[in-house]
This record gives sequence, structure tokens and C-alpha cells, in this order.
Amino acid sequence: MNQAIEFNHIFNKKTPFELLPWQGSQDQLTNHSEKISALINELEKPIWAVKAGSQVFLTDQDGFSAAGSGNHLQAERLAYVPPMALESLGDPAFMQTYGTRYAYYAGAMANGISSVDMVVALGKAGLMGSFGSAGLPPTRIEAAIQSIQQALPGGPYAINLIYSPNEPNLERNLAEMYLKLGVKVIEASAYMDLTYALVHFRVAGLSRASDGSVLIGNKIIAKISRKEVARKFMLPAPEDLLKQLLADGKITKEQVDLARQVPMADDITVEADSGGHTDNRPLVGLIPTMLAVRDEVQAQMNYPQPVRIGAGGGISTPAAALAAFMMGAAYVVTGSVNQACVEAGASLHTRNLLSQADMAEVIMAPAADMFEMGVRVQVLKRGSMFAMRASRLYELYSRYNSVEEIPAADREKIEKTIFRRNLDEVWEETQAFFRERDQKNLDLALKDPHHKLALIFRWYLGLSSRWSVVGEPGREIDYQIWCGPAMGAFNQWVKGTILEPAENRQVVDVGMQILIGAAYLARVRSLAGQGINLASELQMYYPPRLL
Ligand SMILES: Cc1cc2nc3c(=O)[nH]c(=O)nc-3n(C[C@H](O)[C@H](O)[C@H](O)COP(=O)(O)O)c2cc1C
Repeated sequence: MNQAIEFNHIFNKKTPFELLPWQGSQDQLTNHSEKISALINELEKPIWAVKAGSQVFLTDQDGFSAAGSGNHLQAERLAYVPPMALESLGDPAFMQTYGTRYAYYAGAMANGISSVDMVVALGKAGLMGSFGSAGLPPTRIEAAIQSIQQALPGGPYAINLIYSPNEPNLERNLAEMYLKLGVKVIEASAYMDLTYALVHFRVAGLSRASDGSVLIGNKIIAKISRKEVARKFMLPAPEDLLKQLLADGKITKEQVDLARQVPMADDITVEADSGGHTDNRPLVGLIPTMLAVRDEVQAQMNYPQPVRIGAGGGISTPAAALAAFMMGAAYVVTGSVNQACVEAGASLHTRNLLSQADMAEVIMAPAADMFEMGVRVQVLKRGSMFAMRASRLYELYSRYNSVEEIPAADREKIEKTIFRRNLDEVWEETQAFFRERDQKNLDLALKDPHHKLALIFRWYLGLSSRWSVVGEPGREIDYQIWCGPAMGAFNQWVKGTILEPAENRQVVDVGMQILIGAAYLARVRSLAGQGINLASELQMYYPPRLL
């Protein structure tokens, strides 16, 4: 295509709209690349495509009357694109529920990688951030929540609650803390089943409004990749957990009745192939599947407000965000892309590696928290040997039942390269850690040598993610950096633009550029659907170029 804009007749007959002539002056029309992209970018204005002579132009003038213009021109209308406010992307009920301006939130990143600064910056801009509480000691989580509440007294913000099958007490205590501090939104993730802690948080926030309807004080956004788990969150809380909570005096009898009328979650974020914990499923398959499950449950339950379905995993570009919205996502969620931002609780070394990563430079590796179950997480391959080393440890764990069973040569090798210390020393440190955090787990390890081996190996898996956060010198090669292919897609998109260097990446800019770009692309696609084709360089949206 040589010209910036071209019309291909796609309809046999003219539409009534096309039959209305456009009247105006030549200077109101443009067919220059830069002006065309500027027009499309003025999202609050409508656009018309018109044909004058043999040429096609765009204009933001309605052309219903030529009054006031000198040079009268009769042109033919070809297409119309309405204004496209960013607020129109996604479900307004999501924005209302959480008090956000846009249908967008940044998912939690463990160890405070999604930091207080990140959550506050996003909240102030009308986006929402989920604080990365997983892996942090409760005292740090409490302090973080208080700082966030001080900066964002009316929200929006969310706090992560992560499924901890190895540490059920920790999960219960966290839920209690969230209730005590008045946290109103949690992002619940990695769940395979509903737990006491989750149901407690949800149901303790239920009350009856004066009109008899149920008021949901404590909101849950559940991040899920499997439909059988999603269904559990779409249904009311299970009776056995309600009974238990009632018997423990955690909830009232009225709350039990109310709990039977509402779903466990307000929103389900379907999570496709992503950084960190992931089932590596494709978003294009997951969204329609979860929407269908939601519709089935809604037909059965008839909730006044159906559970919304949002999309995360792989979203880091305007095209990906638009695709998710077009497929019916109520909102979009980013993750990987935020870790490279200046507000992230991640070291400069990590952020620089991330900002240079390609889509293919990610790999699955054993997870620290569910190591024994063989669960894996997606990490950055570029510049780190973590995935290889952690896989080696999992291999040894699968083959041997105790530290003593590991052949001397293997033991020596991992002590030298991976641990850089004797495994007996590692065990000492491991005991000290669990004594403070989870004595039951330690007791189990003292009885079961295979579990002891797991805890020793988890020393490396746990610390390697911390090294990445704090920038541990000399351990760069072992940094465990959770990351999905979305990072590479983002880097490709922002090449040569203001967002290319890691030091220029701010979470709000990143989120806004993705949303603005999605609206831009929606307008480009709308024009294309009416036969107006733009030159390929105009069909993409880029953040401002570097000078
Ligand atoms: C560094 C990192 C840490 C993460 N930690 C958590 C976590 O603790 N809890 C959680 O719910 N999700 C966690 N996630 C997932 C994100 O919240 C988000 O759902 C996901 O990254 C979106 O997919 P994407 O990485 O393809 O953008 C993490 C993701 C990354 C990249």
C-alpha cells in the first residue's frame, strides 16, 4: 500500500449512512500519516472517513453543514468511528465496585515486588494495584497495608492472599489481620479449593441492606486458570466451612444466611500463560471457557450482579489488552511488565535484565512454595541459571528420600555450585527460619527425612527470589526472576520509545499506554471493518519515540 489511507469496497450496496454527503472544506481533511494517527489518537473526538475526488481522507468534522468554511467541498461519506473514552473499555461495574477509573489492575507480585509505592502510584491514577504480600513476614505486610491505607484512604487497592497448603495457619492469620485492618479487597490466588481463611474474609463482610439485599463489604478477586476451581468461587461458600466458622464464633448466623445468596468472588481473573505460577494456558481459549462457566452458574443462581470475568496472563501490549476486551473480559490484568518498572521491589540488575528480555527467554522451573508437589513457576532465563539449578534439586529430591541418600559426588557438587556451603549449615539456617515462621512444618521435617530434604532445597529456591529483590552481589546468576512471555512482547513494542530503558518505566505510564493503545487500535479496527485500510505503520500504536 503506497498511500496512508485507502478504501476497499466491502459492501455491495451503500449504507444509508454513506449516502449522506459530507460538506466542508479541503483544509478540514487529512490524508497525511502523522495527522491521521493524531486524529485517531484524539480518543474523545469522532472520526469520519470521506472520499473527495479519487482520494480518501479522515476528518473530525461532522460535515453536516459547510457553514463558516470558505472553500466548499462535496465529499462522500465512507465510515464513522465514535469517540472512544478509555473508561469505555471493560465493564463499568468493575470500576464502580473497586472505585477505579479504568478496567485495569496490576496483579500482586510476591515478596513485595508489587510494592507499597507501586500500589499507591496505581491507586492515585485510578488504576489499581495488588500488594505482593506472599513470602513476606506478617509484620511487614501489616506495615505495608497501613502505609497504603494512609496514602489511599478511599482506595483503590487490593492485597494478595495466596493459597498456602503448607502453612494453613499463616493463611488464617493473614485473613484475620486483613479483617482487623479493614482491608476491603483481596486478590486470592493459587487456590485449588476454598479454604477456611477465604470464607472467613468473605462472609465476615456480609450484611443486610435496608431493602433486604445483601451488602458485600469484603470483595474477592480470585485469580484462576481452571474452570473447576473457578466454579467453586462462582458459587456460594461451602456449607461445611460456614458451619465451622459459625461454631468458632467467627461469623454470625445471619451472615451464614447471607452467604448462601452471594458468590464467593465478585470477579474471576482468568490467568493464562503468565509470570510466576501458571498452567501456561492460552488466553484466547480461557476467556470464552470461563465466560461460559459463568453463564451456566448465573443461570442457576440468578445473582443480582453476575460474577465478572477479567483477563490476565500475556497482557502487556495494546493489541493483547484490546483482544481481551473484545473477547468479553470485564477488565485486564498485567503482571510481568510491572516488575521492570521503577516502583517495583526488584533490584536494578533484575529490572535491566527484564527490560532486555525477548519473548522466548522464559522457562518453567520448580516453585519454592509447592516444591514437593512438583508445581512449577515461569521465570526469566536470560542472565540466570536458576531454572537449571532448581530443576537439578528437584531431580535429586525425586530420586532420594533423605540428605544422607544423596551420593557424595552429587552432594559435593551442589554444595559447591548451588548452595556455596555445607548442607548441614543450610539445615541449621532452615531450622532457624521455620522455628520463627512455621514450627509445625519443622516438626514434620524432624520426623520425615524426605520432608527435611525438601526444606533444605527450598532454602535455595526461597533465597534466590530474595536475592533478585535486594540485588545480592555475587549471586546474580542465581536470581529467581518470575516472568512470563508478556515481558518480551512489551519490550518489542516499546523498542525505540520513551519506555525502552528500564529507568523510564513507571507503572502508571505503562498501564496508560497499554489502555490508550488499545483504544487507538479499536478505532483502527473499526475503520478497517468499514473498508478503510491504513498503512501498516498506522495500524500499530507506539508510546512516544525517544528523542
Ligand atoms: C514477579 C512476579 C511475581 C508474582 N507473584 C504473584 C503473587 O505473589 N501472587 C499472585 O497472585 N500473583 C503473582 N504473580 C502473577 C501476577 O499477579 C499476574 O497475575 C501475572 O503476572 C499476569 O501475567 P503476565 O505475567 O503474563 O503479565 C506474579 C507475577 C510476577 C511476574
